[in-house]
Amino acid sequence: MFWSVVLVLVLVFVAWDVLGDQNPLDVVPGPPRRPIFGCVLGHMMMSPRTLFLKLREYAEKYEDRYVLKLFRRRVVYIYNPSDIEVVLSHSKNIDKARPYKFLIPWLGTGLLISTGSKWFTRRKILTPTFHFNILKNFATVIEEKSRNLVSRLKQHQNEVDVFSVISDFTLDTICETAMGIQLDHDKSKATVEYKSAIHEIGRLIMERLTRFWLHNDFVYMMLPVGQQFNKALNKVLSFADNVISERKKQKITGENSIAIDEDNFGKKRRVALLDLLLEVESKGEINLEGIREEVNTFMFEGHDTTATALTFGLMLIADHNEVQEQIYEECQRIFGDSDRIASMADLAEMKYLEAVLKETLRLYPSVPYMGRETTEDFMMGDIFVKRGSGIGIHSYDLHRREDLFPEPEKFKPERFLNDESRHPYAYIPFSAGPRNCIGQRFAMQEMKCVLSEICRNFKLEPKQKGWRPQLVLNLVLRSIDPIYVKFVPR
Ligand code: HEM
Repeated sequence: MFWSVVLVLVLVFVAWDVLGDQNPLDVVPGPPRRPIFGCVLGHMMMSPRTLFLKLREYAEKYEDRYVLKLFRRRVVYIYNPSDIEVVLSHSKNIDKARPYKFLIPWLGTGLLISTGSKWFTRRKILTPTFHFNILKNFATVIEEKSRNLVSRLKQHQNEVDVFSVISDFTLDTICETAMGIQLDHDKSKATVEYKSAIHEIGRLIMERLTRFWLHNDFVYMMLPVGQQFNKALNKVLSFADNVISERKKQKITGENSIAIDEDNFGKKRRVALLDLLLEVESKGEINLEGIREEVNTFMFEGHDTTATALTFGLMLIADHNEVQEQIYEECQRIFGDSDRIASMADLAEMKYLEAVLKETLRLYPSVPYMGRETTEDFMMGDIFVKRGSGIGIHSYDLHRREDLFPEPEKFKPERFLNDESRHPYAYIPFSAGPRNCIGQRFAMQEMKCVLSEICRNFKLEPKQKGWRPQLVLNLVLRSIDPIYVKFVPR
């Protein structure tokens, strides 16, 4: 009797699932959608590396887009410029996809994750902190950090694990510019712990993604894996809390007041990010929780993205001697034999280096995946997308489309020199539309400054010519194995 009831219930549920769940997105191809689970079982418990490869396989198999059905929910994955334009330029569908919610215990609803009026107000407050005049004030700090890095590299005779030294540089830089805090190298244990806790959080989130029974926060936090997450989380949060309290202390004692810019009439005052947040707090427009969200968001987004881009960039430069020589020649043309530091005007002249960075971000976009949760129905070309559907934007696959970038696997910076005409949404390492990267200009300035400083001082050699890393998504795009480069002084 019991089993008959169970069987009837299962049949009713399957019938309800098959008949009562029609969705216009079902016309889009994709892996088999089974009753009840959809495509869930086919991806269950996949390792992050296998998942990464699987998604690449789908992008190759299904021409422009595919749909995964996850239980009753449809997620459409896109990697063609026309669909991406519709999605990224939409003024209302700006909510981030569900997987981003796993980041909330860490980043809160800071600028990356928030939506609606909270996102709009914060974006308006924070945009001026990346104004040209503020960036100009950061130039000295970035240059000093770049030179420290060069001195550090000079101490290495053998190949260097690039990410580890570069991420120290990018973390130091974001802390001293946007946060106004000099990291204390006597306490470098905290920095190492912060960086490795971020990797741990990324790994745990990726594993959680393919285990649907871990999606519920309450259940997750009851399990050992949730406690592991909490342990890593506490390290990351306390690092950011220290930055905030340190800056507060300095403000009371009047130390290190940096990056203040006034226009000719002394009316527009522009202040670096954390100082601005503290000012806004004193007016009661943000509370401490709000400051923590933004500090965590900007410390992570502001160092890990640039660190991975620079790591892949150094790997590619070391592996392409002709590219390296052209960067060196460009620096020679700009600086001659002078040892002077790079001004903003010098950086603007580094057109070839800029093309190298753009080509690096084409092949290795630090953020290879972006997700949206649709809150309004809309048309994507001839496809009707219902509100409540998920959208995955794969810039990694977009950037490797043969029809947009001939010989896509080849590293060819010239692509970005010749002003080839291309769809405005064919290349989106910094996203596009209203939720594009707020730190894009900061990132380009920092990356140009440090790469030019490195290439002026060293000849780069790969550990193994032609070696390419196995990639994985762990919050940002990462190589599974360390990337080694030898820095031979010029
Ligand atoms: C190579 C370096 C970088 C790359 C490739 C990059 C890429 C991106 C991308 C693709 C997004 C959109 C994410 C999404 O829609 O989910 C984004 C957003 C964001 N980025 Fe960056 N980023 C870089 C550096 C930076 C830096 C240096 C900062 C801060 C100083 C920063 C702060 C942010 C913030 C706060 C957002 C959220 C903006 C919003 O939604 O309004 N990023 N970035």
